[in-house]
This record gives sequence, C-alpha cells and structure tokens, in this order.
Amino acid sequence: MKNIIVVGAGYVGLVTAACFADLGNRVIVLDIDKSKIEGLKKGVLPIYEPGLEEMVSRNTTAKRMDFTTSYPQALREAEYVFIAVGTPSGVDGEADLKHVQQAAEAIAEAMTGPLIVVNKSTVPVGTGDWVADIIRAHQSKPIPFAVVSNPEFLREGSAILDFMNPARTVLGSLDPEAVEKVAQLHLPLRAPIVVTDLRTAEMIKYASNAFLATRISFINEIANICEALGADVKEVANGMGYDPRIGRTFLEAGMGYGGSCFPKDVQALAHMAAEKGRNPQLLQAVMDINADRTRLLMERVHELLGDLAGKDIGLLGLTFKPNTDDMREAPSLEIARRLVKKGVVVHAYDPVGMERARDMMPELIMAEDPYALAEGCDALIVCTDWNEFKHLDLSRILQMMKQPVIVDGRNIYDPVVLTRLGFRYRGIGRGYGPDGSPIEEVETEAKVSEK
Ligand code: UGA
Repeated sequence: MKNIIVVGAGYVGLVTAACFADLGNRVIVLDIDKSKIEGLKKGVLPIYEPGLEEMVSRNTTAKRMDFTTSYPQALREAEYVFIAVGTPSGVDGEADLKHVQQAAEAIAEAMTGPLIVVNKSTVPVGTGDWVADIIRAHQSKPIPFAVVSNPEFLREGSAILDFMNPARTVLGSLDPEAVEKVAQLHLPLRAPIVVTDLRTAEMIKYASNAFLATRISFINEIANICEALGADVKEVANGMGYDPRIGRTFLEAGMGYGGSCFPKDVQALAHMAAEKGRNPQLLQAVMDINADRTRLLMERVHELLGDLAGKDIGLLGLTFKPNTDDMREAPSLEIARRLVKKGVVVHAYDPVGMERARDMMPELIMAEDPYALAEGCDALIVCTDWNEFKHLDLSRILQMMKQPVIVDGRNIYDPVVLTRLGFRYRGIGRGYGPDGSPIEEVETEAKVSEK
C-alpha cells in the first residue's frame, strides 16, 4: 500500500485515483474546486465515466479514497503526487499551463518530506524540467524530490478498462530510483514499461495522439474519394484493416475527431514545431481535413433538404463520442451552430450529454428519446454513435418524421436497409446505393419517384 495524491478531479485524475485505490493504495484526490470536492465526499461525481461512480464509492467506503482542497493536509504522508490537471489550448494553440504551474507551486509550498511528482497531464515537451524548476524555486527549504513523466493513454468511455489493461506504461525521468518507485505502482497492471528521459516521454504522448488523429483524417480523406468514385469506405477500412501493418482501429470515417485531447494535442504539437522553425505539414493537413468535416456534412443536408430556413432538424447524439458526457469540441455543436445560422429549428437527444449541451447552446430543443426527437423533423443527423441508436425501430421513426431524411455522420446504419425502408439516406464515404449503383443514380430515381 502506497500513499498517493492525485491533483485534479477531472476524467484523468478521478480514474487514476480510483484505479490506484482499487489496487490497494491509499489515495487522496485534491482539487481546488470546493464544489467538486464537496460533491465527491457525498458520492456525486462531476463527470460521467462508465463504472467510475461504483469504483469511487467502493474505495471511499473501504477508506482507501478521500477528497480534499487542502495541499498541506493531503501532502502530510504522501509519497507520490500525480498531477492530472487540465491543459487547455491557449490563444495560439499552445497548451495553457497555468493549472500545472499552480499545482507545482502549491506542492512545493506544502511538501514536508521527500516526494515523487508524477506528471500525467499532457504537457509540452520540456514541461517536466520546468515543473522541477518551479518546485525548487518555491520550496521554503530544500527537500529532495523527483519529477517523472507518466503520460496517460486513457480513452473517455473506457478509461477504467484502459487503466487496468494498458498497452504500455511510459515513464520518463533520469532518476532511476524514482522510476523504479513509479514502476512498482504499475507492476500489478502487467504491461510493458518503457523507461526514457522526461522529454521523450512527453513526446511519446503527443506523437501517439497525433498519429491516431492522422489515421482518422486519412480515412476521412479516403471517404471523400470513395464518395466521388462510388466505393464504400467501411469496406475499404475492413479490407485494409486485416493487414497487420495497418490494423482496423481508428479507421472509422465520420464527422472528424473531437474531444478534449486530439484537437488540442495536434494543435499544440504543430505549435511546438513551428516555434522551433519546423514546418509541420502533415499535422496541418490532419487539422485542415478535420475542420472540413462539418462543412461537408452540411453540404449533404443541403443536397437532401434544399433550403434549410424554417426546417426542423434533429441531432441524434451530442457528445463527442459515446459513453461519455463530454461535450468539449463535439462536432454536434458546430453542426448545430451552422444549422441555427441557416434558420433551422434544432432539436436534439443524447443519452447523457443533454445537460451539458443545454448550458453551451440554450437554443437546442431537447427531446425525451429518439422517437420524440424524430416527431415532426425534416431530417435527423446522427452525430454520435451511441449503441442505443443502432437498433432503433426505424419504421416507427420513418412514420413520425415530416420528411424521411437521415444524414448518418457516423455510418451506423446500412444504406441499403434504410433506402429500402423508404428513407433518403446519406452516410459518409458510402458511394453505393441499394442496387449497387453509384449514389447519383439512386438520387435520380428518388427524385423521379418524388415527382
Ligand atoms: C484519446 C486517445 O485515444 C487516448 O489514448 C488518449 O489518452 C486521450 O485521447 C487523451 O489524450 O487523454 P479520447 O479523446 O477519449 O482518447 O477519445 P478517442 O476514442 O480517441 O476518440 C477521439 C475522437 O476521434 C472522437 O471524436 C471519435 O469519435 C473520433 N474517432 C475515433 C473517429 O472519428 N474515428 C475513429 O476511427 C476513431
């Protein structure tokens, strides 16, 4: 059993804290936000992450997990402090490090004995050294400490699973004793441990996220070409994915990547490169392709509905991906903004994201369920691939809609099935219609039958 402090009660901090507690350690979660800590003490989580509430409650009851806003109180017996605070995008795309700085200063002022400071937040290359400088500068007397970079690779929605079954653990530090101690915490997870210097560990995180984002922009570009040439991007991805050099994951074409990580991390990496006089051409293309996704989706909506003013359109799903309530950089918001600009009345349904979305866009009209959403709508746009949308009673949806139009931004439906049911359906990068003919011909048929 080790004494661990986790600074930051967000997605990464809470998952890290709960999982370490579940492995038998004693963990204190520290956040300067009083309301979050008060809530956590009563078992109310500030975020939705599958399995987390139950895990926090189990470990709180077992007295392995506690919550505080006080650094001196938290640090009294601490051996390890994990920094897991947010690093949002600054004005020019650089990571904003004010929360990391505040945490480092507060740790330095409150520490009373030797400490290992582990950085989990995604921070620009070189930040680990900077954190060490801050701690040194703010200590009232010299107390030994080490800084270790331990980037997280958790996906929202499956963060607990990812924590408990990591593909690897990356530890960056030139202090072998500190690395050994942090490695010990991770031994029960039985994953390969990559030990490197601080800067390389920080770079591994950016390069990993940038590579995954590149795969997504790549398949989205292939989707555009598939549409033009009459091929089906889903099958293309399947066919490519069997090659072990390529693999099938992160090849889902759709509305582009969103969330709190890829957009900010690709931008921050490009910013770091440009600052040093390098030209990050590929990263730029990745961002440009991603930024174009919502415009292309809007084109599809226009094609199917014509003039949009006064139309009712329903967004099926709001969060940036399923199994989370996170609305940060959710493509649905950009779509909603564009629709509102065109004079559309925008309706929406999401299993868990509606409360957050309402705060961000009060003009959205929320529906109780997907069927209530469909009622009276001229079109539905699938923005998030929640499982519960995959087996809807589509005949019932068809009956309820003003016009049977579905634009499927996540390719969750089969174009053949939906067209046969009577929908005017468009997915992403799926150039074929029900009889295997290119989509243009199907459209012509649909237009003829309308007349
Ligand atoms: C991502 C990484 O996957 C994690 O490894 C990393 O730890 C995390 O960022 C982070 O830096 O903290 P996350 O943002 O939770 O995790 O979500 P992903 O599952 O990676 O999805 C990101 C976005 O890409 C979503 O909008 C998703 O819909 C989109 N996506 C994903 C696609 O459009 N196509 C795909 O094939 C996969």
